[in-house]
Amino acid sequence: CGIFAAISETSVTSALVGGLRALSYRGYDSSGLVIAQRNGLQRRRAPGKLDALSTLLKEQPLEGFVGIAHTRWATHGAPSETNAHPHMTPKVAVVHNGIIENYSVLKADLESDGYRFNSETDSECIPLLITRNLDKGLTPEVALREAMAMLDGSFGIAVIFASESDTVYAARLGSPLVIGQGATGHFIASDAIAMASVARNLCMLEDGDVAKVRVNEMSITNTAGDVTHREMKALQVSEHDQGKQGYRHYMLKEIHQQPEVVRNTLNHYCDNASFTLKDETFPSNIARFDRLSIVACGTSYYAGMVARTWFEKYAAIPVEADIASEYRYRESPLSPNTLSLFISQSGETADTLAALRYTKEQGLSCISLLNVDTSTMAAESDSFLRTLAGVEIGVASTKAFTGQLMVLLLMALRIAKASGRLNTAAEKAAIKELFTLPVGLSNVIDQLASIKSIASSLMQSEHTLFLGRGTGFPLAQEGALKLKEISYIHAEAYPAGELKHGPIALIDDAMPIVLVAPPGPMMSKTLSNLREVAARGAKVILISNHEGIELASEHITHAIEMPDCDPVMMPVLYTLPLQLLAYHVAVLKGTDVDQPRNLAKSVTVE
Ligand code: G6P
Repeated sequence: CGIFAAISETSVTSALVGGLRALSYRGYDSSGLVIAQRNGLQRRRAPGKLDALSTLLKEQPLEGFVGIAHTRWATHGAPSETNAHPHMTPKVAVVHNGIIENYSVLKADLESDGYRFNSETDSECIPLLITRNLDKGLTPEVALREAMAMLDGSFGIAVIFASESDTVYAARLGSPLVIGQGATGHFIASDAIAMASVARNLCMLEDGDVAKVRVNEMSITNTAGDVTHREMKALQVSEHDQGKQGYRHYMLKEIHQQPEVVRNTLNHYCDNASFTLKDETFPSNIARFDRLSIVACGTSYYAGMVARTWFEKYAAIPVEADIASEYRYRESPLSPNTLSLFISQSGETADTLAALRYTKEQGLSCISLLNVDTSTMAAESDSFLRTLAGVEIGVASTKAFTGQLMVLLLMALRIAKASGRLNTAAEKAAIKELFTLPVGLSNVIDQLASIKSIASSLMQSEHTLFLGRGTGFPLAQEGALKLKEISYIHAEAYPAGELKHGPIALIDDAMPIVLVAPPGPMMSKTLSNLREVAARGAKVILISNHEGIELASEHITHAIEMPDCDPVMMPVLYTLPLQLLAYHVAVLKGTDVDQPRNLAKSVTVE
């Protein structure tokens, strides 16, 4: 979901639609806006893509200086016009991100007082609660605060009153909101990226804050109702970050940006003259623990799974890696000697954030690895490490994953160094080798042009099985996730060694196999698994080096040859063919690559 609001000296309609367009990468299935007019609050809403709202605004134009807008990703109720935000009464209109958990109780209460719901959403109880308070004679601000006090759950809201139509109120409890200051006025958004073309400075609201925003002034009060100051910072997102720069999709652009991401990461965390780690860029306490607990969702979780091997191998520190939605309810006994590491591109994922809060409540140390400095997790973690991936627009994460891998690898080396397991000569050798990675990645991207023909062999498949061992297994999981999320082909990943314990029953000529078999001690075992599936008729796409492909040549349908590299760099390089394979299958199938159906870039509800 996305919120954008504008209070400006100039007409806000195109800024509102532009703001929603900038937020659209987060995933949505309907949109709408309300603009204050002399004759009251006026609304336009449309199901489907933003073009539908733009077309409606051409047919039924709406101009004005104050407005709120929303892209909705359906949770309660189908993606229809009636369920699209803003929800409103003649007195007040509201856009809402988050979830109101006690909405059925509130709904029954409001209905018993004669207030009628028009939608199936939980969000509609907010304008109705506010309206009931206004009907009791409360002022807009008090009516809003008293309504907020009744809400359980999480929210970021923007509210506009018919009786105070020069003002937008923004309030936050759990769902992020930023306020931007631009040449023509103030803007409110759920994601800083939407501010790029309108604002230069922005501040982040904190939980419990209510902001009263007008064209030339704004004031913020905290939970206690006291006037508070939130620091204005220069906006980090440039308009340049937003364009596709000639690429057909953001995902493709972001895949091609990976060499640059790796270079930026190395330059941030390492000294490129002495080839040593910049120790001070890591939290000073990271080596004080004897156990690491990694918690994340989706692609970020797979980055953690790859890194588990590095932490265990280089830093000799035992690691548990958990999916946040499981971890937060598992009541795993936590020891004070455990460092908890939360990985998140957005820094807003509801389950990862809840797991972070749970860990903090137990009084334990936690750090986060994040791509968004202004995120909630950045504010709430004891400290955080940044991935330097830049803004990631494609819903399917690519460059953020590579950025995460790089920082996790460097973190493992940093812990190894602090605990005396990595001497200076080994440190220099490792870092020097890593500095060759950007060029290596660029070369692999260039060589993978031929992957399109391999993709065409997969596009008719209904199922695919990805296999790998060691770090090849989480890479296989990430490859399967990429394929399923953007091409809608069912894809499953298995540790190759588990094949005989079940999945082998699925193997026939209609079950293509993508096998990740980098060189190393496990390659020959993985290639044995390849022979087992080939013997049962499976068509095999092998991702390996020249030697692996030679060894298995008679059993494979397609080969993706990777260059020989230091084993430490392997996961970063081997990610590329998996991303590009999924990308080209999706393009061939004609799916919405950057905004796949039903998915959101940042999942801020449980
Ligand atoms: C969503 C996105 C994925 C992402 C996951 C975790 O499912 O579509 O690309 O990996 O959330 O997000 P995070 O921002 O916490 O890394």
